[in-house]
Amino acid sequence: MLEEMPRINASSIATQPTSEPTFPPLVDSFGRTHESLRVSVTDACNIRCRYCMPESVLGFLPQHRLLSFDAIARVVSVMVQAGVRKVRLTGGEPLMRPKLELLVEKLRGLSGLDQIAMTTNAMMLAEKIHALEAAGLTHINISLDTLREEAFKAISRREGLDSVLEGIDAAVSSKLQVRLNALLLRELNFQDCIPLVEFARERNLFIRFIEFMPLDADRQWSQNQVVSGEEVRKHLEEHFGSLHAIERKDSAQPSSDFGFEDGKGGVGFIDPVSKPFCQACNRLRLTADGKLRNCLFGKQEWDVKSACDSNASDQVIYDIAAECTRNKYASHGIAHVDFKPPQRAMYQIGG
Ligand code: 5AD
Ligand code: SF4
Repeated sequence: MLEEMPRINASSIATQPTSEPTFPPLVDSFGRTHESLRVSVTDACNIRCRYCMPESVLGFLPQHRLLSFDAIARVVSVMVQAGVRKVRLTGGEPLMRPKLELLVEKLRGLSGLDQIAMTTNAMMLAEKIHALEAAGLTHINISLDTLREEAFKAISRREGLDSVLEGIDAAVSSKLQVRLNALLLRELNFQDCIPLVEFARERNLFIRFIEFMPLDADRQWSQNQVVSGEEVRKHLEEHFGSLHAIERKDSAQPSSDFGFEDGKGGVGFIDPVSKPFCQACNRLRLTADGKLRNCLFGKQEWDVKSACDSNASDQVIYDIAAECTRNKYASHGIAHVDFKPPQRAMYQIGG
Protein backbone atom coordinates (compact mmCIF):
# COMPACT_ATOMS: atom_id res chain seq x y z
CA MET A 1 0.00 0.00 0.00
CA LEU A 2 1.01 3.58 -0.50
CA GLU A 3 1.61 4.25 3.17
CA GLU A 4 4.25 1.56 3.00
CA MET A 5 6.11 3.15 0.13
CA PRO A 6 9.71 3.51 1.28
CA ARG A 7 10.95 7.03 1.77
CA ILE A 8 14.12 7.71 -0.15
CA ASN A 9 16.71 10.38 0.16
CA ALA A 10 16.03 12.85 -2.67
CA SER A 11 19.70 13.79 -2.92
CA SER A 12 20.50 10.24 -4.05
CA ILE A 13 18.58 10.80 -7.28
CA ALA A 14 20.65 11.89 -10.27
CA THR A 15 19.54 15.26 -11.61
CA GLN A 16 17.96 14.99 -15.03
CA PRO A 17 19.24 17.25 -17.75
CA THR A 18 16.58 19.72 -18.94
CA SER A 19 16.91 22.12 -21.84
CA GLU A 20 18.15 24.64 -19.27
CA PRO A 21 19.36 22.47 -16.39
CA THR A 22 19.32 25.25 -13.84
CA PHE A 23 17.65 23.50 -10.92
CA PRO A 24 17.49 19.88 -9.74
CA PRO A 25 14.21 18.06 -10.40
CA LEU A 26 11.39 18.31 -7.89
CA VAL A 27 11.57 14.91 -6.22
CA ASP A 28 9.62 14.02 -3.10
CA SER A 29 10.69 11.72 -0.29
CA PHE A 30 9.06 8.72 -2.03
CA GLY A 31 11.04 9.26 -5.23
CA ARG A 32 8.22 10.79 -7.28
CA THR A 33 9.53 13.36 -9.76
CA HIS A 34 7.12 16.25 -10.36
CA GLU A 35 6.67 17.28 -13.98
CA SER A 36 3.16 18.67 -13.96
CA LEU A 37 1.85 21.91 -12.47
CA ARG A 38 -1.78 22.94 -12.19
CA VAL A 39 -2.15 26.67 -12.05
CA SER A 40 -5.40 28.14 -10.79
CA VAL A 41 -5.86 31.64 -12.23
CA THR A 42 -9.02 32.58 -10.34
CA ASP A 43 -11.43 31.22 -7.74
CA ALA A 44 -14.36 32.87 -9.54
CA CYS A 45 -16.85 30.91 -11.58
CA ASN A 46 -19.96 31.70 -13.59
CA ILE A 47 -21.82 28.57 -12.45
CA ARG A 48 -22.14 26.82 -9.08
CA CYS A 49 -21.63 23.07 -9.52
CA ARG A 50 -22.84 21.48 -6.32
CA TYR A 51 -19.86 19.11 -6.17
CA CYS A 52 -17.56 22.13 -6.01
CA MET A 53 -19.01 25.50 -5.01
CA PRO A 54 -21.55 26.79 -2.53
CA GLU A 55 -24.82 28.25 -3.87
CA SER A 56 -23.80 31.73 -2.83
CA VAL A 57 -20.27 32.93 -2.36
CA LEU A 58 -19.42 35.69 0.10
CA GLY A 59 -16.79 37.07 -2.25
CA PHE A 60 -14.08 35.94 -4.61
CA LEU A 61 -10.45 36.92 -4.19
CA PRO A 62 -9.87 40.63 -4.82
CA GLN A 63 -7.47 41.53 -7.64
CA HIS A 64 -4.56 42.42 -5.34
CA ARG A 65 -4.58 38.94 -3.81
CA LEU A 66 -4.31 37.20 -7.19
CA LEU A 67 -0.94 36.24 -8.54
CA SER A 68 -0.31 38.49 -11.57
CA PHE A 69 0.37 36.95 -15.00
CA ASP A 70 4.00 38.05 -14.70
CA ALA A 71 4.34 36.38 -11.32
CA ILE A 72 2.66 33.18 -12.56
CA ALA A 73 5.00 33.09 -15.55
CA ARG A 74 7.95 33.63 -13.23
CA VAL A 75 6.98 30.75 -10.93
CA VAL A 76 6.26 28.48 -13.91
CA SER A 77 9.60 29.40 -15.47
CA VAL A 78 11.46 28.33 -12.30
CA MET A 79 9.49 25.09 -12.16
CA VAL A 80 10.18 24.40 -15.85
CA GLN A 81 13.87 24.85 -15.15
CA ALA A 82 13.39 22.14 -12.52
CA GLY A 83 11.79 19.73 -14.98
CA VAL A 84 8.10 20.65 -15.11
CA ARG A 85 6.88 19.81 -18.64
CA LYS A 86 3.18 20.37 -18.42
CA VAL A 87 1.03 23.21 -17.14
CA ARG A 88 -2.74 23.09 -16.79
CA LEU A 89 -4.68 26.31 -16.23
CA THR A 90 -7.65 25.83 -13.93
CA GLY A 91 -9.91 27.80 -11.61
CA GLY A 92 -12.66 28.36 -10.56
CA GLU A 93 -13.37 28.91 -14.20
CA PRO A 94 -10.11 30.05 -15.83
CA LEU A 95 -11.92 32.07 -18.51
CA MET A 96 -13.30 34.33 -15.76
CA ARG A 97 -9.80 35.81 -15.62
CA PRO A 98 -9.78 38.57 -18.25
CA LYS A 99 -7.34 38.20 -21.14
CA LEU A 100 -6.17 34.73 -20.16
CA GLU A 101 -4.56 34.44 -23.59
CA LEU A 102 -1.89 36.93 -22.44
CA LEU A 103 -0.80 34.43 -19.79
CA VAL A 104 -0.77 31.61 -22.35
CA GLU A 105 1.44 33.74 -24.58
CA LYS A 106 3.90 34.35 -21.73
CA LEU A 107 4.06 30.63 -20.98
CA ARG A 108 4.51 29.65 -24.61
CA GLY A 109 7.92 31.30 -24.57
CA LEU A 110 9.27 28.93 -21.89
CA SER A 111 11.62 26.41 -23.41
CA GLY A 112 11.06 22.92 -22.03
CA LEU A 113 7.33 23.34 -21.50
CA ASP A 114 5.62 20.75 -23.75
CA GLN A 115 1.96 21.29 -22.90
CA ILE A 116 -0.14 24.28 -21.97
CA ALA A 117 -3.55 22.84 -21.14
CA MET A 118 -6.74 24.27 -19.66
CA THR A 119 -9.75 22.80 -17.88
CA THR A 120 -12.91 24.83 -18.51
CA ASN A 121 -16.68 24.66 -18.17
CA ALA A 122 -16.79 26.08 -21.75
CA MET A 123 -19.52 28.65 -20.99
CA MET A 124 -17.31 31.37 -22.51
CA LEU A 125 -15.18 29.20 -24.73
CA ALA A 126 -16.78 29.96 -28.12
CA GLU A 127 -15.73 33.60 -27.86
CA LYS A 128 -12.22 32.84 -26.54
CA ILE A 129 -11.04 29.80 -28.47
CA HIS A 130 -9.35 31.65 -31.35
CA ALA A 131 -7.35 33.94 -29.06
CA LEU A 132 -6.29 30.97 -26.90
CA GLU A 133 -5.29 28.89 -29.88
CA ALA A 134 -3.30 31.77 -31.39
CA ALA A 135 -1.58 32.33 -28.04
CA GLY A 136 -0.34 28.73 -27.92
CA LEU A 137 -2.77 26.72 -25.79
CA THR A 138 -2.30 23.05 -26.73
CA HIS A 139 -4.92 20.98 -24.82
CA ILE A 140 -8.36 21.64 -23.47
CA ASN A 141 -10.55 19.59 -21.10
CA ILE A 142 -14.20 20.54 -21.04
CA SER A 143 -16.55 19.63 -18.20
CA LEU A 144 -19.81 18.16 -19.43
CA ASP A 145 -21.93 16.25 -16.92
CA THR A 146 -25.24 16.02 -18.77
CA LEU A 147 -26.99 16.86 -22.04
CA ARG A 148 -30.30 17.64 -20.31
CA GLU A 149 -30.95 21.29 -19.49
CA GLU A 150 -32.91 20.46 -16.35
CA ALA A 151 -30.11 18.25 -15.00
CA PHE A 152 -27.55 20.91 -15.96
CA LYS A 153 -29.56 23.35 -13.85
CA ALA A 154 -29.80 20.91 -10.95
CA ILE A 155 -26.03 20.31 -10.97
CA SER A 156 -24.69 23.77 -11.77
CA ARG A 157 -27.55 25.78 -10.21
CA ARG A 158 -27.43 27.98 -13.32
CA GLU A 159 -28.68 27.91 -16.91
CA GLY A 160 -26.42 27.74 -19.92
CA LEU A 161 -26.04 24.25 -21.37
CA ASP A 162 -26.42 25.81 -24.86
CA SER A 163 -23.32 27.98 -24.32
CA VAL A 164 -21.37 24.93 -23.16
CA LEU A 165 -22.35 22.99 -26.29
CA GLU A 166 -21.37 25.97 -28.48
CA GLY A 167 -18.05 26.07 -26.66
CA ILE A 168 -17.51 22.37 -27.37
CA ASP A 169 -18.30 22.87 -31.08
CA ALA A 170 -15.81 25.74 -31.23
CA ALA A 171 -13.11 23.70 -29.52
CA VAL A 172 -13.69 20.71 -31.80
CA SER A 173 -13.21 22.89 -34.85
CA SER A 174 -9.92 24.27 -33.49
CA LYS A 175 -6.57 22.50 -33.68
CA LEU A 176 -6.41 21.92 -29.93
CA GLN A 177 -6.59 18.45 -28.43
CA VAL A 178 -10.05 18.32 -26.82
CA ARG A 179 -11.34 15.95 -24.13
CA LEU A 180 -14.54 15.88 -22.13
CA ASN A 181 -14.74 15.37 -18.35
CA ALA A 182 -17.91 14.15 -16.68
CA LEU A 183 -18.69 13.84 -13.01
CA LEU A 184 -21.64 11.62 -12.11
CA LEU A 185 -23.68 12.06 -8.95
CA ARG A 186 -25.78 9.00 -8.29
CA GLU A 187 -29.05 10.85 -7.74
CA LEU A 188 -28.68 13.52 -10.41
CA ASN A 189 -26.97 12.31 -13.57
CA PHE A 190 -25.91 8.68 -13.44
CA GLN A 191 -28.46 8.09 -16.23
CA ASP A 192 -26.53 10.48 -18.48
CA CYS A 193 -23.43 8.36 -18.91
CA ILE A 194 -24.61 6.58 -22.07
CA PRO A 195 -25.86 9.74 -23.89
CA LEU A 196 -22.62 11.50 -22.91
CA VAL A 197 -20.51 8.72 -24.39
CA GLU A 198 -22.65 8.75 -27.55
CA PHE A 199 -22.17 12.52 -27.79
CA ALA A 200 -18.40 12.11 -27.43
CA ARG A 201 -18.20 9.29 -29.96
CA GLU A 202 -20.17 11.28 -32.55
CA ARG A 203 -17.40 13.88 -32.33
CA ASN A 204 -14.60 11.32 -32.06
CA LEU A 205 -13.73 12.65 -28.60
CA PHE A 206 -12.43 11.01 -25.48
CA ILE A 207 -14.63 11.35 -22.40
CA ARG A 208 -13.38 10.73 -18.90
CA PHE A 209 -15.54 9.99 -15.90
CA ILE A 210 -14.19 11.44 -12.66
CA GLU A 211 -15.33 10.13 -9.30
CA PHE A 212 -16.86 12.67 -6.93
CA MET A 213 -14.26 13.60 -4.29
CA PRO A 214 -14.90 15.18 -0.85
CA LEU A 215 -13.97 18.66 -2.08
CA ASP A 216 -17.41 20.28 -2.31
CA ALA A 217 -17.82 23.55 -0.43
CA ASP A 218 -21.15 22.41 1.04
CA ARG A 219 -19.56 19.33 2.63
CA GLN A 220 -22.37 17.18 1.31
CA TRP A 221 -20.04 14.49 -0.05
CA SER A 222 -20.99 11.00 0.86
CA GLN A 223 -19.86 7.65 -0.46
CA ASN A 224 -23.50 6.99 -1.51
CA GLN A 225 -23.32 9.76 -4.10
CA VAL A 226 -20.09 8.46 -5.64
CA VAL A 227 -20.53 6.40 -8.81
CA SER A 228 -17.35 4.37 -9.15
CA GLY A 229 -15.51 4.13 -12.46
CA GLU A 230 -15.97 0.36 -12.35
CA GLU A 231 -19.74 0.73 -12.13
CA VAL A 232 -19.82 3.18 -15.06
CA ARG A 233 -17.60 0.90 -17.14
CA LYS A 234 -19.87 -2.11 -16.57
CA HIS A 235 -22.91 -0.03 -17.45
CA LEU A 236 -21.26 1.21 -20.66
CA GLU A 237 -20.19 -2.29 -21.66
CA GLU A 238 -23.76 -3.53 -21.36
CA HIS A 239 -24.76 -0.89 -23.88
CA PHE A 240 -21.74 -0.53 -26.20
CA GLY A 241 -20.18 -3.99 -25.98
CA SER A 242 -16.77 -4.77 -24.57
CA LEU A 243 -14.18 -2.05 -24.15
CA HIS A 244 -10.48 -2.70 -24.63
CA ALA A 245 -7.88 -1.20 -22.32
CA ILE A 246 -5.48 1.28 -23.92
CA GLU A 247 -1.92 1.19 -22.67
CA ARG A 248 -0.90 4.29 -20.69
CA LYS A 249 1.49 6.52 -22.60
CA ASP A 250 2.33 8.40 -19.46
CA SER A 251 2.65 6.42 -16.23
CA ALA A 252 1.55 9.45 -14.19
CA GLN A 253 -1.71 9.77 -16.12
CA PRO A 254 -4.54 9.45 -13.60
CA SER A 255 -7.06 7.79 -15.90
CA SER A 256 -7.47 4.22 -17.12
CA ASP A 257 -8.45 4.58 -20.76
CA PHE A 258 -10.50 2.27 -22.96
CA GLY A 259 -11.34 2.11 -26.66
CA PHE A 260 -14.42 0.91 -28.56
CA GLU A 261 -14.37 -1.82 -31.20
CA ASP A 262 -15.12 0.67 -34.00
CA GLY A 263 -12.28 2.97 -32.87
CA LYS A 264 -14.56 6.01 -32.46
CA GLY A 265 -13.78 8.19 -29.47
CA GLY A 266 -12.78 6.57 -26.20
CA VAL A 267 -13.58 6.56 -22.53
CA GLY A 268 -11.43 6.95 -19.43
CA PHE A 269 -11.99 6.53 -15.71
CA ILE A 270 -10.37 8.69 -13.05
CA ASP A 271 -11.03 6.86 -9.80
CA PRO A 272 -9.42 8.80 -6.95
CA VAL A 273 -11.94 7.43 -4.44
CA SER A 274 -12.22 3.74 -5.39
CA LYS A 275 -8.68 3.29 -6.75
CA PRO A 276 -6.35 6.03 -5.56
CA PHE A 277 -3.50 6.67 -7.99
CA CYS A 278 -1.25 8.65 -5.66
CA GLN A 279 1.63 6.27 -6.18
CA ALA A 280 2.35 7.69 -9.63
CA CYS A 281 1.35 11.30 -8.88
CA ASN A 282 3.67 13.86 -10.45
CA ARG A 283 1.51 16.95 -9.87
CA LEU A 284 1.96 20.13 -7.90
CA ARG A 285 -0.56 22.96 -7.65
CA LEU A 286 -0.40 26.72 -7.55
CA THR A 287 -3.50 28.46 -6.17
CA ALA A 288 -4.86 31.72 -7.57
CA ASP A 289 -3.59 33.54 -4.45
CA GLY A 290 -0.07 32.27 -4.95
CA LYS A 291 0.24 29.27 -2.66
CA LEU A 292 1.96 26.08 -3.74
CA ARG A 293 0.31 22.80 -2.73
CA ASN A 294 1.61 19.28 -3.14
CA CYS A 295 -1.80 17.57 -3.09
CA LEU A 296 -5.48 18.42 -3.56
CA PHE A 297 -6.05 17.07 -0.06
CA GLY A 298 -2.93 18.53 1.54
CA LYS A 299 -3.32 20.58 4.71
CA GLN A 300 -0.24 22.72 4.12
CA GLU A 301 0.51 25.49 1.61
CA TRP A 302 3.73 27.27 0.68
CA ASP A 303 3.49 30.97 -0.08
CA VAL A 304 5.21 32.02 -3.31
CA LYS A 305 3.25 35.25 -3.77
CA SER A 306 5.17 36.98 -0.98
CA ALA A 307 8.43 35.88 -2.62
CA CYS A 308 7.24 37.25 -5.99
CA ASP A 309 6.00 40.51 -4.41
CA SER A 310 9.37 41.09 -2.78
CA ASN A 311 11.17 40.29 -6.02
CA ALA A 312 12.98 37.31 -4.55
CA SER A 313 15.49 35.43 -6.68
CA ASP A 314 14.64 32.34 -8.75
CA GLN A 315 16.64 30.33 -6.22
CA VAL A 316 14.29 31.43 -3.40
CA ILE A 317 11.24 30.46 -5.48
CA TYR A 318 12.84 27.12 -6.35
CA ASP A 319 13.63 26.45 -2.68
CA ILE A 320 9.97 27.01 -1.76
CA ALA A 321 8.86 24.60 -4.52
CA ALA A 322 11.44 22.02 -3.45
CA GLU A 323 10.32 22.27 0.19
CA CYS A 324 6.67 21.90 -0.82
CA THR A 325 7.55 18.81 -2.88
CA ARG A 326 9.67 17.21 -0.14
CA ASN A 327 6.74 17.44 2.26
CA LYS A 328 4.31 15.53 0.09
CA TYR A 329 2.56 12.61 1.79
CA ALA A 330 2.39 9.16 0.25
CA SER A 331 -1.34 9.42 -0.46
CA HIS A 332 -4.47 11.48 0.17
CA GLY A 333 -6.04 8.94 2.54
CA ILE A 334 -9.68 9.53 1.52
CA ALA A 335 -10.46 5.97 2.58
CA HIS A 336 -9.07 6.38 6.13
CA VAL A 337 -11.62 6.59 8.95
CA ASP A 338 -9.93 9.72 10.29
CA PHE A 339 -9.88 11.46 6.87
CA LYS A 340 -10.76 15.17 7.04
CA PRO A 341 -11.30 17.18 3.84
CA PRO A 342 -9.04 20.20 3.35
CA GLN A 343 -10.21 23.65 4.45
CA ARG A 344 -10.49 24.89 0.90
CA ALA A 345 -13.02 23.54 -1.62
CA MET A 346 -12.19 22.55 -5.19
CA TYR A 347 -12.81 25.99 -6.72
CA GLN A 348 -10.39 27.55 -4.22
CA ILE A 349 -7.61 25.05 -4.90
CA GLY A 350 -7.89 24.45 -8.63
CA GLY A 351 -9.26 21.30 -10.23
N1 5AD B 1 -14.71 15.84 -7.14
C1 5AD B 1 -14.15 15.49 -8.32
N2 5AD B 1 -13.92 16.37 -9.32
C2 5AD B 1 -14.32 17.63 -9.11
N3 5AD B 1 -14.27 18.70 -9.90
C3 5AD B 1 -14.78 19.76 -9.25
N4 5AD B 1 -15.19 19.39 -8.03
C4 5AD B 1 -14.91 18.07 -7.91
C5 5AD B 1 -15.12 17.10 -6.90
N5 5AD B 1 -15.67 17.41 -5.72
C6 5AD B 1 -13.72 18.62 -11.24
C7 5AD B 1 -14.84 18.39 -12.22
C8 5AD B 1 -14.77 19.53 -13.12
C9 5AD B 1 -13.38 20.05 -12.92
C10 5AD B 1 -13.26 21.50 -13.18
O1 5AD B 1 -13.09 19.80 -11.58
O2 5AD B 1 -14.54 17.27 -12.97
O3 5AD B 1 -14.97 19.08 -14.43
FE1 SF4 C 1 -17.19 26.27 -11.59
FE2 SF4 C 1 -15.68 24.21 -12.28
FE3 SF4 C 1 -16.46 24.43 -9.79
FE4 SF4 C 1 -18.27 23.84 -11.67
S1 SF4 C 1 -16.53 22.59 -11.05
S2 SF4 C 1 -18.50 25.41 -10.05
S3 SF4 C 1 -17.48 24.95 -13.38
S4 SF4 C 1 -15.13 25.83 -10.82
